[in-house]
Amino acid sequence: MPDSMQRMAVLGQPGSQSRFRRAIDCYRRGGTAYVWHKSMRRLLGNDSPLKRKLLYSHPRDYWTLRGGAEYMAEQEGQPSRTARSQWLSERVAACSPESILEVGCGYGKQLEAIRSAVGDHIPLTGIDFSPTQLRLAAERLADVDHLTLVLGDGQRLPFPDGAFDLVLTSAVILHNEPEIADRMRAEIVRVSRRWCVHNEDTDETYNRYGYDTAAWYRHRGLEVIESGPIPESVFSASDDPDGESSRSQYCLARPR
Ligand SMILES: C[S@@+](CC[C@H](N)C(=O)[O-])C[C@H]1O[C@@H](n2cnc3c(N)ncnc32)[C@H](O)[C@@H]1O
Repeated sequence: MPDSMQRMAVLGQPGSQSRFRRAIDCYRRGGTAYVWHKSMRRLLGNDSPLKRKLLYSHPRDYWTLRGGAEYMAEQEGQPSRTARSQWLSERVAACSPESILEVGCGYGKQLEAIRSAVGDHIPLTGIDFSPTQLRLAAERLADVDHLTLVLGDGQRLPFPDGAFDLVLTSAVILHNEPEIADRMRAEIVRVSRRWCVHNEDTDETYNRYGYDTAAWYRHRGLEVIESGPIPESVFSASDDPDGESSRSQYCLARPR
């Protein structure tokens, strides 16, 4: 059989055809860079140092390719993510903040939950360095009043000292290498007036770092009001069988 016919025969098989179609869809969504990124995520094993180096060592590039409708659908399909967002937003509301900044706001899930918890009048700001994530946040939060979304890097926050009453991160600092993570925390402390709130995992995995944020604050002589894992009850009856989310560290600190 000539080559071209063999190719057509393979493409004609149902499995291969749907794989081919998936590749085309993937290309349409994000071009060759996205096809490459997605293939590498699938092909390289989670214990591969190459995967860590190729995909995760440039978090801005990673989140620009990873962010988007498909990622949002994955996250929204996990009830533990919603349980965590709601719990965190209740903790934020308990601080009675007069203004809030979320660093690494992603597609806006946490800001949406915070808006419900704190009411309509509190000004909210979200900053993220991924244009694909921020675009989705702008769509998702289009009807939210007193909201500002900014494209920018958490290690150089474009805000004056003490600009926000409360500054929050959730699963953000852990994507950045230690030196950058230090700069991000220092920036958060600089722009925060009264509260710094974090939910950052403490254990390192193949695709992220792990940080003890409370220890960082204590080490710098700042007051840690609360720290510890998010209570297991938050995730009960959700989709978190191996306890990944409950290993998160919740930390509430005062900037000065
Ligand atoms: C796992 S998502 C979490 C999003 C959101 N905080 C939530 O809980 O739904 C991580 C987000 O942090 C952003 N991010 C990571 N490092 C950042 C940095 N240095 N500056 C700004 N955004 C960052 C990524 O672009 C991504 O949108």
